[in-house]
Amino acid sequence: MPHVRHYHPSDRDALYDVCLRTGADGDDATDRYHDPRLLGSVFVGPYLEFHPDLAWVVDNDGTAAGYILCAPDTRAFEAQCEREWWPELRRRYPLGSFPATSTDEEVVGLIHAPPTALPETVTSFPAHLHIDLVPEVQGLHLGGALVAKLLDALTARGSIGVHLGVSTANIRAIGFYKHLGFDELAHDDTTTTMGKRLNLT
Ligand SMILES: CC(C)(COP(=O)(O)OP(=O)(O)OC[C@H]1O[C@@H](n2cnc3c(N)ncnc32)[C@H](O)[C@@H]1OP(=O)(O)O)[C@@H](O)C(=O)NCCC(=O)NCCS
Repeated sequence: MPHVRHYHPSDRDALYDVCLRTGADGDDATDRYHDPRLLGSVFVGPYLEFHPDLAWVVDNDGTAAGYILCAPDTRAFEAQCEREWWPELRRRYPLGSFPATSTDEEVVGLIHAPPTALPETVTSFPAHLHIDLVPEVQGLHLGGALVAKLLDALTARGSIGVHLGVSTANIRAIGFYKHLGFDELAHDDTTTTMGKRLNLT
């Protein structure tokens, strides 16, 4: 039976794979990328490295098939990535590593100029999360269970709020977050930002 458990370092490669298999607005992005590890290097790796205590996975017969990852302090995380994560990736993937119009090169662009969260978002929602489950384990209440684990942990730490960015095209995930009590904070054609306050008094 698929179930939720804490992340273990041996899950790393499987989680990079989950990221790729859900990287096209929630659908499989395998055909979009020449380098299968690129997306995971940006959206999974630094969270596992810096905050493994806030990482849970869906274990499906011993293989990690989904994850929730979190940075509890987005500004501190951005600064730590700038010091300890991006430099090595920038060496490995210099600008121009892939054809200019390729999706791989778009991600290389993010590595060299990572976007930062809006000030008004981090003030009220300092933590941020990423969640992805492969299709085999979707719709089984496991995504909800992963979010519950994380919100409990953040609440216990005294966090005042958590936000996330979701592709505006990913209607299903936006419905999921709204169902779990997240509000829409901002949106444009590409990205919708959602947030949930914690430790309300
Ligand atoms: C989006 C995703 C995380 C949801 O996880 P899941 O395990 O499929 O969802 P769950 O089964 O845990 O759903 C939890 C609750 O949300 C509800 N829900 C799920 N999707 C919903 C939707 N689109 N609209 C309204 N409610 C929804 C479920 O009915 C369930 O409600 P209940 O517990 O009250 O019965 C998962 O489908 C996924 O990883 N999709 C692909 C990758 C992705 O889009 N990631 C998000 C990127 S920001």
